[in-house]
Amino acid sequence: MSTNAPNPVPGDEESTSNFPFVGWLRDVAPYIHSFREKTFVIAFAGELVKEIGLENLIEDIAMLHAMGMRIVLVHGIRPQIEEQLKLRKIKSKFGTSALNTYRITDAAALECVKEAAGELRLDIEAAFSRGLPNTPMAGSRISVISGNFITAMPVGVVDGVDYVHTGLVRKVDSTSITLSLDSNKIVLLSPLGFSPTGQAFNLAYEDVAASTAAALKADKLIFLSPYSGLRDVDGELITELSLPQLQDYMTEHKDIQSGLKGLLNISGKAVRSGVSRVHFLPCNQDGALLEELFTHDGIGMMLASSDIENLREANQDDVGGILQLTMPLEEEGILAARGQDVIERDIQRFSVIEHDRVLFGCAALFPFPNGVGELACLAVDADVQGSGDGERLLKRIEMRAKQENIKKLFVLTTRTEHWFLKRGFKRATVDDLPEERKQIYNWDRKSMVLTKDL
Ligand SMILES: CC(C)(COP(=O)(O)OP(=O)(O)OC[C@H]1O[C@@H](n2cnc3c(N)ncnc32)[C@H](O)[C@@H]1OP(=O)(O)O)[C@@H](O)C(=O)NCCC(=O)NCCS
Repeated sequence: MSTNAPNPVPGDEESTSNFPFVGWLRDVAPYIHSFREKTFVIAFAGELVKEIGLENLIEDIAMLHAMGMRIVLVHGIRPQIEEQLKLRKIKSKFGTSALNTYRITDAAALECVKEAAGELRLDIEAAFSRGLPNTPMAGSRISVISGNFITAMPVGVVDGVDYVHTGLVRKVDSTSITLSLDSNKIVLLSPLGFSPTGQAFNLAYEDVAASTAAALKADKLIFLSPYSGLRDVDGELITELSLPQLQDYMTEHKDIQSGLKGLLNISGKAVRSGVSRVHFLPCNQDGALLEELFTHDGIGMMLASSDIENLREANQDDVGGILQLTMPLEEEGILAARGQDVIERDIQRFSVIEHDRVLFGCAALFPFPNGVGELACLAVDADVQGSGDGERLLKRIEMRAKQENIKKLFVLTTRTEHWFLKRGFKRATVDDLPEERKQIYNWDRKSMVLTKDL
C-alpha cells in the first residue's frame, strides 16, 4: 500500500450517477453505520499545528462528531513548550530513564508548559466555535468541554535525576468524561494533570490519550504524530499488526527510535487494557484521519489485540452489511434478488468476512435433502476483490457443508463460471438440481449450474 499517493475518489468508477460524491457516499456509508456511537480518542502531536495547522483537523473532527461518534480530543504541546522556553531564554532539559526520555520540568519550565497548553487549548476551542463557515458544518454548534479529568503523580527521582513537575497519569475520571460524551460534548484534554495536593504536572499527551482510552475502553485510539508506523524488510509501511506481532517485531528490532518505541509501548498497554484498535497516522498529512477511517486500506498502521480480518458466521447485525454487498450485484443481474426479510430469515446460513468491523464479503449455504447443499450469495466488495477473500469464503462454506454432512455442493451462476471451475466445480444441468430447487429455478435468468463433490 502506498502511503502518500492520493486515493482516487472511492466508488467514482462504479457509480452510474454523474456526481462522483454519490458513489463516494455509498462507499463510506458502511463505515458511518459501524462508527456511530463508538468512542474515539484522537490524539495529535503539537507538531501538527506547526506543520498543517489546526483548521482542517477540527473540521474533520466536527464532521465525525456530527456522524454520531463520541470524541475525546487530546493535544500535545512539545514544540509550543520549546517556543515558550526560547522566549524566556530558558534551556530545555531532558533526562533518560531505562524506558523513556522525559523533559525535566522545573518551576520555570512548568510556567512555559501552562502557557503553551493554555494557548493551544484556547485556539482549539475557538476553532470549534467558528461555526465552520463554507463547510458542510456551517452554523453547527459544537460544545467542547475541558476540565480536571486527569489525576497525575510525579515521575519522581529516577537514576538520581529529579524530574520535578514532570508527571505520569495516575487516574482518569472516566465517569465525568462519559457523562460529557453522553450529553453530546467533545471532551478536550491537555497534557496537564493535577495531584490531590493541587500541584500541576507536565504529562506526555500519549500517556493522557492512552490512559483515557483504556479507562473508557474506547473503540479507537488514534495518534496523529511524527511516527506513522513500522516498516517491513522492504521498507514498506506495515498497515496492520496484532499485539503478538508487535511484540515479535520489537524483540527483533532493537533500533526503533525512542519516541516511536514509547508510543508503541503505551499503545500495546492500551490494547491490553481493552482498547479495540490503535491507529498511527502521520501528523503532516491533511485528511489522514478521514482516509484512515473511511477506506479499507487506510493510510497508517493499525494495532489490534488479534487478527483484524475476521471470517465468521453472520448474525442479525450483519443484515445491513450483507444487503450493501449484494444489492448492487442484484441490480446488475449477477446475483439473484433476495429481499431484506429473506436475508433476515436466513441469516444463520451466512458466513461473512469483516475488516475492522465493516463487512467486505459474504456467502451462504442452503441445505437440501440427500446430502446436497447450495452455495449462494457469494460476494466480495469490489474494492478488495482479488485478495483471496472469495476463496476463503468458499472454503468456509465447504467446511460448514461437511459439518452438516453435505456431500455435494451446487451453485447457480450467470457470470462467474470460470472462477468456480478453477476451484473444483464441474458443469452440470438443471436436471442435476434437487427437485425442490428445480421447481424454483428461474428460467429467465438462465443461470449455469455447477456442482462439486466434497
Ligand atoms: C467471485 C468473487 C466472489 C471472487 O472474490 P475475490 O475475493 O476476488 O476472489 P479471490 O481473491 O479468491 O480470487 C480472485 C481471482 O478470481 C478471478 N476472478 C474474479 N472474478 C472472476 C470471474 N467472474 N470469472 C473468472 N475469474 C474471476 C480474479 O481474476 C482473480 O484471479 P487471479 O487469482 O488469477 O488473479 C468476486 O469477484 C465477486 O464478488 N463477484 C461478484 C459476485 C459473484 O459473481 N458471485 C458469484 C455468483 S454466486
